[in-house]
Amino acid sequence: MKFFVDTAEISEIRELAATGLVDGVTTNPSLIAKSGRKFLDVVAEICSVVPGPVSAEVVSNDFDTMLKEGKKLAAIAKNIAVKVPLTVDGLKTCKALADAGTMVNVTLCFSPAQAILAAKAGAAFVSPFVGRLDDIGMSGMQLIADICQIYRQYPGFRTEVLVASIRGPMHVVDSAKLGAHVATMPPSVLKQLFGHPLTDKGLAQFNADWKKTGQSLL
Ligand code: E4P
Repeated sequence: MKFFVDTAEISEIRELAATGLVDGVTTNPSLIAKSGRKFLDVVAEICSVVPGPVSAEVVSNDFDTMLKEGKKLAAIAKNIAVKVPLTVDGLKTCKALADAGTMVNVTLCFSPAQAILAAKAGAAFVSPFVGRLDDIGMSGMQLIADICQIYRQYPGFRTEVLVASIRGPMHVVDSAKLGAHVATMPPSVLKQLFGHPLTDKGLAQFNADWKKTGQSLL
């Protein structure tokens, strides 16, 4: 399973990229606004830090403008995945960009039917939002199960399931059980994955016992 970080904060991306566990980055207009930086600058900087796919989202809603924006974003770096919304115009844009060899991430996916459309439009990634479904009393994980099951029936579908709107470690674990290709998560969730109280307790014991030996390894 690939891990992407869902942030436009370059310091967080650098810190987590140093672990060697970050395979890509996702951004969206809200995360760009939160960063307080210029969109094109911050995306170019992220692409220089992380070699894997970096999602940058178009900000218009009509096909002609989205296509122009998508081409402009794709020109920033080879590892850009242009993010388009799951609308008719968004999928038209996806098809046009994908046919021209650009990676496309179709975002705001909330149903299996939408995920089928994204695959047919040639998306490199489809982003089902699990947390936002959970927030309205629906099952985000059931959506992931449905999409993974459907995509498995069609080896011709090249679209990877990129689980988005992740709220905690169990979203990551449950997505991995279902065979989702990618989980994009806030830096806080990636950090939470490392932790277990028994790891801390065990390490403290090993450290104390090693000290008692009076030895040094190096
Ligand atoms: C990622 O591509 C999405 O934009 C992101 O995961 C949305 O997360 P949110 O529902 O926490 O805003």
